[in-house]
Amino acid sequence: MSSSQIPVAVLGATGSVGQRFVSLLDQHPWFKVVALAASDRSAGQKYSLATRWILDTPMPDYAKDMVIVPADIESVKAKIVFSALHTEIANELELQFAIAGMAVCSNASSHRRGEDVPLLLPEINADHIHLVKTQRRNKGWSGCILTNPNCTSTGLTIALKALDDAFGVKGVFAVSLQALSGAGYPGVPSLDIMDNIIPNVANGGEEEKVEWEPRKMLGRFIEREAPGTRIELADIRFSVHTNRVPVIDGHTVCASVELARPADPEAAEAILRAYAAPESARELPSSPRPVIEVRDEPDRPQPRLDRFTGKGMTTVVGRVRRDPILDLKFVVLSHNTIRGAAGGSIYNAELLVRENLL
Ligand SMILES: NC(=O)c1ccc[n+]([C@@H]2O[C@H](COP(=O)([O-])OP(=O)(O)OC[C@H]3O[C@@H](n4cnc5c(N)ncnc54)[C@H](OP(=O)(O)O)[C@@H]3O)[C@@H](O)[C@H]2O)c1
Repeated sequence: MSSSQIPVAVLGATGSVGQRFVSLLDQHPWFKVVALAASDRSAGQKYSLATRWILDTPMPDYAKDMVIVPADIESVKAKIVFSALHTEIANELELQFAIAGMAVCSNASSHRRGEDVPLLLPEINADHIHLVKTQRRNKGWSGCILTNPNCTSTGLTIALKALDDAFGVKGVFAVSLQALSGAGYPGVPSLDIMDNIIPNVANGGEEEKVEWEPRKMLGRFIEREAPGTRIELADIRFSVHTNRVPVIDGHTVCASVELARPADPEAAEAILRAYAAPESARELPSSPRPVIEVRDEPDRPQPRLDRFTGKGMTTVVGRVRRDPILDLKFVVLSHNTIRGAAGGSIYNAELLVRENLL
């Protein structure tokens, strides 16, 4: 490890999101993986033996011979800990890592609603990262917890941000078509999902997340001396249906929006195309290039063709058109384990480093 590299660890490294971390952190210019952690089932084994590798790129060489360690603060010594743990495990464990002084970049929903916990998509709300100062003061720890949103909220919220800045968004009606990798590994039994659509994701709770999380991310960052910074939730109404579909990677969302100011589809498309991240979130190693790509074809975006746009970090929008009931409708696609999970968490960590908050 070069002296300038920051030691990082992955918790839940053998799972669907964990494997993305392992892959995306290969040759990362700033971060060096020093520990891969998982459950007792895997701890003590070489990563290559314990992991059923499901990505279509090879397992990176650096990871193959690493011995998996238990996910606890005695076994994991790093500055940044990427958490790909399930919520019930993440709840308590992530707190322990933050108390021990590590920066936890989490994919779990456990702490997303915390008033002093940033829920981040740097290309839209990079300023929210400054909540960690309030978090450290409130909790008295030197570490911190940063979260990224549910993978279905991700692409939808990025598109909404561009429209909200330009026209004001008042209401959203959305239907998701979510990929199988979003259910983790081994995930949904093949006899349940082949030839089928399941209109109940993660046994409930998913719709409530997608109806609430965008309001926090599109909310206003309020800076005060005391009691500290906070987020004022955006005043936007959401109604969301979530569905699991037989696609491997890439969540699609069909959305209709009610706007405060009228916009024709051409103007909305131009706004989406021109959307740029805040200055502090640009030119980081994982910054999406571009943030949003708008497809002109009438039958795009499609998960199989478009999910790797911008190395899986770009949000792809298409079919922007007039909505006869609300104002506009469109389709948005986002890679769920890259932009919606591991890539997003790494982007958050890069912002933390750039802002000197590590
Ligand atoms: N998949 C997505 O698209 C996506 C997107 C956004 C957020 N998320 C969130 O990311 C998290 C991980 O999801 P996933 O889809 O990657 O799940 P997954 O494929 O089921 O992987 C779970 C990981 O957690 C480990 N684990 C299980 N029990 C543990 C324990 N007691 N202590 C330590 N490690 C333990 C597993 O290790 P073993 O192999 O040893 O059992 C495995 O590495 C979840 O909170 C999920 O909601 C997922």
